[in-house]
Amino acid sequence: MGVFKRLFGICGTRPPADNQSWTYEGGRIEIDLNRTPELFVPFGAIRLEKKALPERILVFNGGDQQFHAIYNRCSHMGRRLDPLPDTQTIRCCSVLGSTYDYSGGVMSGPAKESVKTLPVMKSEDRLYISVKA
Ligand code: FES
Repeated sequence: MGVFKRLFGICGTRPPADNQSWTYEGGRIEIDLNRTPELFVPFGAIRLEKKALPERILVFNGGDQQFHAIYNRCSHMGRRLDPLPDTQTIRCCSVLGSTYDYSGGVMSGPAKESVKTLPVMKSEDRLYISVKA
C-alpha cells in the first residue's frame, strides 16, 4: 500500500463488491462464497460493516488454506486492518502500522493489546462467523 494511503489511514480492503453476498442475523454472519471472489485468492479480504453488526469485521483468506475473521479495529487508535501478503500477519492501515498475528496477538508497532478474532466455520459454499456483541 502506498505511503499516501497509510498517512491518511486508508485501508486497502474494500467492502464486498456484491453487498448481497453476506447477511447478519441472530449474532451470526453468513457469507456466500459464490458471490465473494475477493476471498478466492490468498490474502484476499473483505471488510464487513453496517447491517447492524456490533463491530467492523475483517474476513480474509490467510493463504494457509483457511479463512479468518478479526475485529477490524487496531487496538492502538482504531484504524482498520489489512492482511499483509506472505507474512501471516495483519497490519493496521495507519502510518504506524501495528501488526498482528492471525490469533490477534500484537507482533509490532505501538498497539499494546490484541485484537479479538472470531471463529469461522466453512460448510460447502458458505462461511459462518459467530459474532458475540
Ligand atoms: S491505529 Fe493502528 S498503529 Fe495506530
